[in-house]
Amino acid sequence: MCICLPNSQKFIYLIIKIIVNPTINKKLKFHNFKFNIMNRACFTQNTSLYRVLGASCIRPIKNNFVRMNIKISALLLLALVLCSCQPRHKLSISKQSWGQADGKEVSLYTLTNANGMVVKISNFGGTITTIMAPDRNGKFEDIVLGFDSLKQYQKGVPYFGALIGRYGNRIAKGKFTLDNVEYTLATNNAPNHLHGGIKGFDKVVWDATELSGTDSVGLVLTYLSKDMEEGYPGNLTSKVTYVLTNNNEIKIYYEAETDKPTIVNLTHHSYFNLTGCKESILDHELTLYADSITQVDSTLIPTGVIATIAGTDFDFTTPHKIGERIANVRRGYDHNFKLRRQGNGLMLASDLYDATSGRLMQTYTTEPGIQLYSGNFLDGSLTGIGGIAYQKHYGVCLETQNYPDSPNKPNFPSVVLRPGEKYTQLTIYKFSVK
Ligand code: BGC
Repeated sequence: MCICLPNSQKFIYLIIKIIVNPTINKKLKFHNFKFNIMNRACFTQNTSLYRVLGASCIRPIKNNFVRMNIKISALLLLALVLCSCQPRHKLSISKQSWGQADGKEVSLYTLTNANGMVVKISNFGGTITTIMAPDRNGKFEDIVLGFDSLKQYQKGVPYFGALIGRYGNRIAKGKFTLDNVEYTLATNNAPNHLHGGIKGFDKVVWDATELSGTDSVGLVLTYLSKDMEEGYPGNLTSKVTYVLTNNNEIKIYYEAETDKPTIVNLTHHSYFNLTGCKESILDHELTLYADSITQVDSTLIPTGVIATIAGTDFDFTTPHKIGERIANVRRGYDHNFKLRRQGNGLMLASDLYDATSGRLMQTYTTEPGIQLYSGNFLDGSLTGIGGIAYQKHYGVCLETQNYPDSPNKPNFPSVVLRPGEKYTQLTIYKFSVK
């Protein structure tokens, strides 16, 4: 039963309370009272039953008012309340056991905000498995691709909902030089290195601590990547804090520190589908606050050229459906957009909108770039939560990050982290409807 009701439902709640309260019921029968159900003003005040009764809401009425039998009307209204009542949710975080990996316990955390939005996160890979977000009618649906069981993630999935590190995106031929020392990384996306290597941050078990605030809940994840893990130098301590706010935002704070010079580029890899994963993302309307891309070769390694995109198939400076021009782009969108930024602060990077459901997702970030990946390599062979086969273009990733192959591109922003420095970035995915 609803405890906190919207104003429009206070009348219904009052009726139900009268029915279950024999004293009041008897008193009402005795006086043969009738309701003025049109007098809404009485019920828009946030008052208790007795104060409402004490006011002028229930009183003998004149002929122009509707006469009703209290019990019959209550039954009708009970049906109405069951259909229309929107329960108020409690801001909470809970934890369930989700299996084991690397000999460590893996958990699945459920974060719920006061609006009923739910985000499920595992400490395996810092993976978001579910985001339940409302459409314009208040209907909650899962708007990310994901799986029910840890086993499915362990089998190997293309980074669904995961944290990516130490280096998000590609490094050419798996090589880079730092302070005159050449390092060799796995070429797990031949001929290049991708998303941290064979066992990147998406496949490790993070230590997790729950957070509870007055208007948000969160999960702090930490992971120590040892010196030369996956070929990267330095013991790198990473801390990623996921926060779900009562504003329907998912905030992701990234922090890292090292004991030797190294490179860092952390990101998050949810495949969003604002239709509730019912259709492909080709009809999603996208705006990117970016005027250029890092031009790439056939292996998706930047050539070093920052190419302006005005008037091209990459121009999302005004809203365009993702599918509108995708046929002209070889394999589909898989490109880093250079954000139109002034300074290093938090900026709006993208708007993603599904006109059918009304869901809008806005991405804010402190990063210099955003990778638009339109799920080009999905092929229907993976079946996710709800038995949905994830076909080509069934999810879109908006990966906020530094540019691909930065360690080999002196003209790109630096990704080098040295001892004594702190890597900090923030990305926010904000959900609303229009
Ligand atoms: C990359 C794609 C890659 C995908 C894997 C994206 O971030 O840009 O090229 O196939 O991740 O899921």
